[in-house]
Amino acid sequence: MRKTTSWIAGITVIAVVLATIVFLSAPANADTAAAEATFKAKCAACHGADGKGETATGKMMKVKDFSSEEVQKMTDADLTAAITAGKGKMPPYKTLSADQVKDLVAYIRAFGKKK
Ligand code: HEC
Repeated sequence: MRKTTSWIAGITVIAVVLATIVFLSAPANADTAAAEATFKAKCAACHGADGKGETATGKMMKVKDFSSEEVQKMTDADLTAAITAGKGKMPPYKTLSADQVKDLVAYIRAFGKKK
């Protein structure tokens, strides 16, 4: 009887720990998914879905490859400014919330990590 009880207690602890991990990691995934959707809808036409800027418009405007060192060495503030205030031929995106812009910056950083 004792043994059975501690077994159940052990399994319950593991279940709670797993549920907590899933719960805590869910928001991060949601943000990435949201940033990806925004990026594909608003940015990919010029920057390409892969961030390399190899679209017709991207080539015409000579956008930089987001995975390049040149873009990755820019600060988060630089990237944020480019998105919210525009840069060169890029239009400013004033309707995005601060959180959306932050997620987009993180999304652009991720391009630098997968090479
Ligand atoms: C109409 C085409 C176009 C669209 C749409 C566009 N961009 Fe750009 N973007 C550009 C161009 C062109 C530059 C380079 C400006 C320069 O260096 O003169 C640029 C630059 C940037 C930069 C600065 C890094 C760099 O390469 O200089 C960031 C960050 C950026 N864009 C993010 C975004 C995000 C995020 C979106 C969507 C919300 C977006 N862009 C939509 C054309 C575009």
